[in-house]
Amino acid sequence: MAKIWDWQKYEIFTHVFVPNQLAVPVSCVSRQTPANESVPFLPVILGHAIQMTTETDALLERLYRRGVEQDAVQSDRSKMLFNITPATGQFLALLVSETRPTRILEIGTSNGYSTIWLARAALAFDARIVSLEKLPHKTTLAQGNLESAGFANIVDLVTIDAATYLADCDDRSFGFIFLDSSRAHYVDWWNDIRRILDWGMLVVDNAISHADELREFVDVIQSDPHLDHAVLPIGRGQLVVTTAFNVRSGMA
Ligand SMILES: C[S@@+](CC[C@H](N)C(=O)[O-])C[C@H]1O[C@@H](n2cnc3c(N)ncnc32)[C@H](O)[C@@H]1O
Repeated sequence: MAKIWDWQKYEIFTHVFVPNQLAVPVSCVSRQTPANESVPFLPVILGHAIQMTTETDALLERLYRRGVEQDAVQSDRSKMLFNITPATGQFLALLVSETRPTRILEIGTSNGYSTIWLARAALAFDARIVSLEKLPHKTTLAQGNLESAGFANIVDLVTIDAATYLADCDDRSFGFIFLDSSRAHYVDWWNDIRRILDWGMLVVDNAISHADELREFVDVIQSDPHLDHAVLPIGRGQLVVTTAFNVRSGMA
């Protein structure tokens, strides 16, 4: 069991960031000890942060292993989990940490494996995540896994067909979108995705494993002069799309 630190008892006045993206207070004053009496707790907090990370890592590892095993023997595609690879998860977490969007949209939740990777990065700067899944039994699985990870409070899981949700979104309402869903629909969804992405970043899984299926989608992106994109050999191939450098910098 993780030791739960009671944050309410302390005034925290300095933070550092450790590699796992958790903000770690380096000094504090206890509200319950005489005024201004510092308590030497950095090792305690670091211990807690490291333990939490270890637990999240262990959960991710367990989920990934279970997903691979389950998909190997499952013939009903609606019950297969199709999780991203751990390397893709690390990559997503890194991009989220670097771009620091306030709102993240995931299209294709499955059991929440990739959502946990996004959430562990988003937690460090109070971003919120909306994750879309059309199959209710998968949303239920994801809810349980996010609760186990301790991230349920920053993620809104929505059981819906992505097309319906996207059509109702306000312009520029998300700063980061992870697309890992039904590839046959990506071209149809593109106008809405483009409309709701606020100078942010779009990442699309399976850009190498299913390059043929994504060819038309990549062509549409390529034809937009306001966008840059690259395909990176991480996991099953990640298509990364950003606002073009010349648009961001104001250069023609
Ligand atoms: C590849 S899996 C997602 C895996 C997940 N990102 C992960 O790595 O843990 C794709 C998911 O998209 C869902 N999906 C497919 N078409 C959809 C649609 N039109 N709207 C919402 N979800 C959809 C599927 O049910 C499936 O669970």
